[in-house]
Amino acid sequence: MAPSYPRLAPAFREALIGAAQRFPTPFYAYDWPTIEARLERLRRAFPEAEIFYALKANPRLGLLRRFRERDLGAEAVSLGEVYRAYRAGFRPEQVLLNGPLKTPSLLEALQRWGVPILGLDSLLEVRRVGQALPGAQVLLRVNPDLPVTTHHHLATGQGESKFGLLPEDLEAALLEARQRGLEVLGLHLHLGSALERLEDFEAGYALMDQLYRSYGPFAVMNLGGGFGLGLALEALGPAATTLARRHQARLWLEPGRYLVAEAGVLVARCYGVKHTRRSYLLLDAGMSHLIRPMLYGAAHPVEPLYESPQKGVYDLAGPACEAGDVLARDVPLPEPKEGDLLAILLAGAYGSSMSSNYLDTPRPLELLWTGEGLEVLRQAQSLEALLAEEG
Ligand SMILES: Cc1ncc(COP(=O)(O)O)c(C=O)c1O
Repeated sequence: MAPSYPRLAPAFREALIGAAQRFPTPFYAYDWPTIEARLERLRRAFPEAEIFYALKANPRLGLLRRFRERDLGAEAVSLGEVYRAYRAGFRPEQVLLNGPLKTPSLLEALQRWGVPILGLDSLLEVRRVGQALPGAQVLLRVNPDLPVTTHHHLATGQGESKFGLLPEDLEAALLEARQRGLEVLGLHLHLGSALERLEDFEAGYALMDQLYRSYGPFAVMNLGGGFGLGLALEALGPAATTLARRHQARLWLEPGRYLVAEAGVLVARCYGVKHTRRSYLLLDAGMSHLIRPMLYGAAHPVEPLYESPQKGVYDLAGPACEAGDVLARDVPLPEPKEGDLLAILLAGAYGSSMSSNYLDTPRPLELLWTGEGLEVLRQAQSLEALLAEEG
């Protein structure tokens, strides 16, 4: 069963139908007023937090520039994302670079472009960064060794995951970082993504409390991202605020999904129904555009942008020559005719950013509904562009 979800705002829905007359499908589109509402809710729940938007959720420059204008920082996890953040106008001190490996060539590029704040993930990183970028501002990422309730691939805080330093290894890493002349701003905790249970965060916060008592004071406490769309933020916010205040640390957060997931749709066109032992509605969008159903078993609700008095139940088949390329199963819909449009919802985070060129599929157009009009965030890729690097 798909989760309950707010339906598309009427103006956005109209804009999507209009866009499909002007542009080829499939395309992504984002409703900026929904992103602003999410940001507002996050700020109300965490009034003292400094927010670093996690680019990996959706890195379009047009979104990043708007976030920067609203005083957000940027959280990056690759050299490419740092480059993008700088291109969007973020200054190095507004950018946080996480991730499990910073290679020597990456560190060398940062030296040339400007060194962001670095999240260090292991003792190896402390040594490497201490050597290459002495004086850099860093946070040490904690592996809290806690179970969380989410998809296995999205759980980063378990002891078995590849991320962070186990609590028992922190003391030595802190000592080494300071000996090597790094400026340790604080500790970083990121438990996973799409977390819906308050208890998971509370267990993480309790651990951070303990660690700050043992190893503090620090200037910053970074409690990461990972907020699921249905998480009771209003209940979580005061706990985070109290915790950071208790340790007189600035509270940092790095949400991605929470800000952009609900605002985004992937608009696909229907090309008829095919019957095997099941009924497949053939769509022009599939796993190359949106991999989450296949990768995580993610449930994306669907809103038809057409009407019909007849109803049916369909599996949504993408165009890839892959048995797994099915975006959703058992979806009740009005009976579609060829050319009708479907909006695949909750596609604003980890949709376009995880899309691929598999099967020489060009990346689709991305549009922003500003509330007043449509803006092109990214043109559809051409077939020529797919061949450009091959000479
Ligand atoms: C270190 C780090 N911070 C922040 C995020 C953003 O997570 P989310 O989009 O679930 O808020 C991620 C994503 O996995 C991450 O790895």
